Amino acid sequence: MKKFPEASRRLARRLHRRMLVIAYGRSFAATAIILAVGVAPACAAGDVKAGRQKALQCQTCHGMDGTAKMPEAPNLAGQSEMYLAKSLQDYRNGARKNEIMSIVAAPLKDQDIADLAAYFAAIPVTVGEPPK
Ligand code: HEC
Repeated sequence: MKKFPEASRRLARRLHRRMLVIAYGRSFAATAIILAVGVAPACAAGDVKAGRQKALQCQTCHGMDGTAKMPEAPNLAGQSEMYLAKSLQDYRNGARKNEIMSIVAAPLKDQDIADLAAYFAAIPVTVGEPPK
């Protein structure tokens, strides 16, 4: 195969780059929409009742009422559903590590995480006066 001279190869590369910039620019909005739609099914809607059943395995440390039963464990009651789900996803994928929670979260399915997050987030909490 005949080789292109260096100058035309450079020109081709530059044109290619420019085309990519234009293509990306045009498709940015479309890509954003596709990403948003594509990501949405990953955030399964949580079911509080199913979550209560699944939370039985968490109660030794977090309590069925979402208040911690051991000093190292945080309260989960009334915590933001999004935060709970993200924490569990992070333990599962290794972005957040803890010797207990990494093991607890490893077998959880997306639906389990959504249900557990919905359950603990749904526990009402009341807050008293902060110390002065
Ligand atoms: C053997 C005790 C134990 C069990 C069982 C357990 N956890 Fe945990 N959990 C912990 C500890 C300890 C931490 C704090 C870990 C850290 O420092 O990252 C924690 C942290 C968390 C966090 C992060 C909270 C925050 O405020 O950042 C979530 C969410 C969580 N657990 C959910 C669960 C769920 C849901 C289950 C049941 C499927 C469960 N845990 C079972 C001990 C436990």
